[in-house]
Amino acid sequence: MRRDVRILLLGEAQVGKTSLILSLVGEEFPEEVPARAEEITIPADVTPEKVPTHIVDYSEAEQTEEELQEEIHKANVVCVVYDVSEEATIEKIRTKWIPLVNGRTATGPRLPIILVGNKSELRPGVTMEAVLPIMSQFPEIETCVECSAKHLRNISELFYYAQKAVLHPTAPLYDPEAKQLRPACAKALTRIFRLSDQDLDHALSDGELNAFQKSCFGHPLAPQALDDVKRVVSKNVAGGVQDNRLTLEGFLFLNTLFIQRGRHETTWTILRRFGYSDSLELTPDYLSPPLHVPSGCSTELNHRGYQFVQRVFEKHDQDHDGALSPTELQDLFQCVLSGHPGAPNSHTPVPTQAGRLPLHGYLCQWTLVTYLDVRQCLAHLGYLGYPTLCEQDSQAQAITVTREKRLDQEKGQTQRSVLMCKVLGARGVGKSAFLQAFLGHSLREARELPEEAPMYTINTVRVSGQEKYLILCEVSADSLLDTSLDTTCDVACLMFDSSDPKTFVHCATIYKRHYMDGQIPCLFISSKADLPEGVASPGLSPAEFCRRHRLPAPASFSCLGPAQPDTAVFTQLATMATFPHLVHTELHPSSFWLRGMLVAVGTAVAAVLSFSLYRVLVKSR
Ligand code: GTP
Ligand code: MG
Repeated sequence: MRRDVRILLLGEAQVGKTSLILSLVGEEFPEEVPARAEEITIPADVTPEKVPTHIVDYSEAEQTEEELQEEIHKANVVCVVYDVSEEATIEKIRTKWIPLVNGRTATGPRLPIILVGNKSELRPGVTMEAVLPIMSQFPEIETCVECSAKHLRNISELFYYAQKAVLHPTAPLYDPEAKQLRPACAKALTRIFRLSDQDLDHALSDGELNAFQKSCFGHPLAPQALDDVKRVVSKNVAGGVQDNRLTLEGFLFLNTLFIQRGRHETTWTILRRFGYSDSLELTPDYLSPPLHVPSGCSTELNHRGYQFVQRVFEKHDQDHDGALSPTELQDLFQCVLSGHPGAPNSHTPVPTQAGRLPLHGYLCQWTLVTYLDVRQCLAHLGYLGYPTLCEQDSQAQAITVTREKRLDQEKGQTQRSVLMCKVLGARGVGKSAFLQAFLGHSLREARELPEEAPMYTINTVRVSGQEKYLILCEVSADSLLDTSLDTTCDVACLMFDSSDPKTFVHCATIYKRHYMDGQIPCLFISSKADLPEGVASPGLSPAEFCRRHRLPAPASFSCLGPAQPDTAVFTQLATMATFPHLVHTELHPSSFWLRGMLVAVGTAVAAVLSFSLYRVLVKSR
């Protein structure tokens, strides 16, 4: 909404422009007036809409044509004043003043116009008949007011209408000729209706209507008012109320009625509350609220965010089977997000169940987007109506920005619940299969993988009795040549093929180049453990290499086996990411029992344990 309003008064000489302004300010009719009143500014707190308002007079005698054009350019609304007792001044509205104001913009946005019939006391009882044809000819005319500067009649109303024409314009909402809502307005209201229809039964119950009313206007409707609304609707629209619930047709009709009765600020309040701008688009301010994420910090959904997205899930799980079918998903993304891209495709990076997205996978998906692209997450939450439905200032309140990674490393522990693991290694060592195994897909299923397998997979892992989200990010072997490659993460997973020892050399190089001098925990993984071991190449064996560098012993992994892929390795990665200080100590002989302890006992106990272990190690040097 605009921060101020500039009203310009135009019209033939002697119609009473200056008198109207001075009557408003002085609250009495000035017998003597100058040709042109000084520009006046009404402070926000005394205007009905609480916006500072400037009122500007025009005098043909005092101003040039250029000055007039400049004033028109600066104005937000023009009051064309005529004298109800002077026919000629009415004719000039059509022939001179409206073309002057909006004549040059044939297609562009038009300045709203208010017709003002002054000196109404000279022709009492006159209706607006003379100007009705003009009103229907020019859609930019918002309204027409008859007033009298002399009798101080309708003066403040006239300025109120002018202010309203700027702040709550009719033109974007309503087509006066067709007498119906414009398509963009109907589309926006339809989206709002769907968001407010919490049980997706295509109608608003009393409870839903009250929640809607409360989130838009701050208070619920009185029971009587609810009944009145439904009565008016059912009298006017067939199917507007069904089973005592307001349907979409009824909701749209209600808004049309507001507008037709000059109460379009009601519809504007609804639209703005749901994030729409004057051009009926969702504003960038709304979709992308400020959220400061310093470098080294990550972004996660907090409990409010998870609660909200879970509510959305439950709403769209129409058959209550705990998973979203492709149709249910499409409904979520297309109807609510107005066709916004972002619907997961069939190769999702999250756990799925026979082509359906279970709640767990759905929450993983949100977690991944929040972590990788918080702007997109904010936009999605905006499309889903988070601020309105949760009665919060913005979607930023659904996000936690974690503390800097450096601090985590200093403290030897992290509060993050989403951890990033980069998976690196030579071509063909089995990185993609590893990512798929994390979702519980065996190699047989993984073989169906498309060329463009997702770079990320995400799932949950329990660490010290706490659920953590672990993201695996596959770093392609080619991109490792790029020196600017970002290898930062919470834990690095360096993969080599146990049947092809040459691949270990590659891994060792990556380690030395990117991780050896840093603080990021690393785990070497010897993949394809089901195959016979390859002939060892000269140089250090993987186990020896890890010992020398004080790394945990390489973990073997296979996607192929009688059972499902072994998941212990994911727990190990998540544990290393959660307790980064355990890494550079010589842990590997005891790493197995330590890991077991970490999973079994609480965080605090684990920290004490590892601390005493650390002391033992220091003493023994
Ligand atoms: P210009 O500055 O020449 O363009 O005229 P204006 O539109 O500013 O008109 P102005 O306010 O100077 O008024 C013109 C004459 O109409 C003055 O004599 C006013 O006293 C008179 N007048 C203004 N308003 C009213 C009204 O409501 N009723 C009557 N009877 N006379 C009015
Ligand atoms: Mg004047």
